[in-house]
Amino acid sequence: MNSPCDHLRIDGDRLMRRLVELATIGPIEGGGSSRLALTDEDREGRDLVTTWMRDLGLDVRIDGIGNVVATRPGRTDGPAVMTGSHIDTVRSGGRYDGNLGVLAGLEVIETLIDAGVETEHPIAVAFFTDEEGARFPPDMLGSLVYVGGLGLEEALDIEGIDGSIVGDELDRIGYRGPHPCPGPAPHAFVELHIEQGPVLEAGGHTIGAVTGVQGISWTEFTITGQANHAGTTPMDLRHDAGWAAAAIAVHVRDMATRMGGRQVATVGRLDLAPDLVNVVAGSAVLTVDLRNTDEALLTEAEADLAAFVEGIAEAEGVLIEARTLARFEPVAFNGSVVATVASTAESLGHAVSEMPSGAGHDAQMMARICPTGMVFVPSRDGISHNPAEYTDPVDLAAGVNVLLHTLLRLDGDALEDDAPEEGETR
Ligand code: GLV
Ligand code: MN
Ligand code: MN
Repeated sequence: MNSPCDHLRIDGDRLMRRLVELATIGPIEGGGSSRLALTDEDREGRDLVTTWMRDLGLDVRIDGIGNVVATRPGRTDGPAVMTGSHIDTVRSGGRYDGNLGVLAGLEVIETLIDAGVETEHPIAVAFFTDEEGARFPPDMLGSLVYVGGLGLEEALDIEGIDGSIVGDELDRIGYRGPHPCPGPAPHAFVELHIEQGPVLEAGGHTIGAVTGVQGISWTEFTITGQANHAGTTPMDLRHDAGWAAAAIAVHVRDMATRMGGRQVATVGRLDLAPDLVNVVAGSAVLTVDLRNTDEALLTEAEADLAAFVEGIAEAEGVLIEARTLARFEPVAFNGSVVATVASTAESLGHAVSEMPSGAGHDAQMMARICPTGMVFVPSRDGISHNPAEYTDPVDLAAGVNVLLHTLLRLDGDALEDDAPEEGETR
């Protein structure tokens, strides 16, 4: 690096104070947070973060799906250099997933304000609605709407796992804003996130320069069999929705193991009814999450699952209905942004690994409309979506400094949108 700003460093203690304070909203045992999208806890988190944004004098705008973008003006008007992530969590959330990327953006902007450094472009930090998709599928809902991948009206009508509706919940918590969706395309977008996996720690790397995000396929299966007496119903006369659900869970696990490579498969939700010890389950609802960096292999996994489900339905005499909750092809990030993240991290003295992301991120949506990349920092023991999620404060600060200097470099670069087609991952 060789610019008058090279010496700039963020304030790691200030970052930690904000992370800790945000984590106290929706607290759960073990030090994590539960702020499912558009709940009262999400509203409280939003109120706190927007207060911090306004305290910094930023222009805070809320759009029709509740995305919040806070901007500091640049020397020139026009598209912003943008960063950000999400502050909603899964029910068993840690304190870093998403929150880090948002509070890192605030920290970067506060560092620039304190140092009196002006940027050429406006600089913005965003938090997007319902990144997790745990309450309202699909995941990355807010950023998907921001980039025009889903119409606002359609998004507002989505029903959650508790029967609530996105638009109603946005109104209830006061976060259906006046600004239009899709939103303006930034000059560039870079998201800092914890890795949520074991790769950086195992390799002794402090920084990941993320090359892309793997494809995601979520399906909900509703199985209808026949509730019956557990003691009197002969095995060959059952229409057991519980057994069919269990068979699907075992099958996807075996399939992922057989396919190997980057194929992963998860049954994360399973509800049986009537859910009683002495009743054959009459119905079951379960979800299957399939992911792969290779679109062709992901499609193969989906076809394998569909064939298995058809066979099980016939064999057990149950009805199985499938509903797609999310389907996103693998995404490759902009080559020059990835290179800028890597070289910035190296020039700050960090060991860097170029790697794909296993988790979904708002950056994968932003990649549709502007040059985009991500910075990863290590997750201890690769644990995430769990209150035990942890990243060393030294690594957190390293990540935010890499974000700061990456954004400053991109601010000065004329970037080309080389975003490859969906389905390709570098
Ligand atoms: C979102 O965080 C996901 O990857 O499930
Ligand atoms: Mn996240
Ligand atoms: Mn997450």
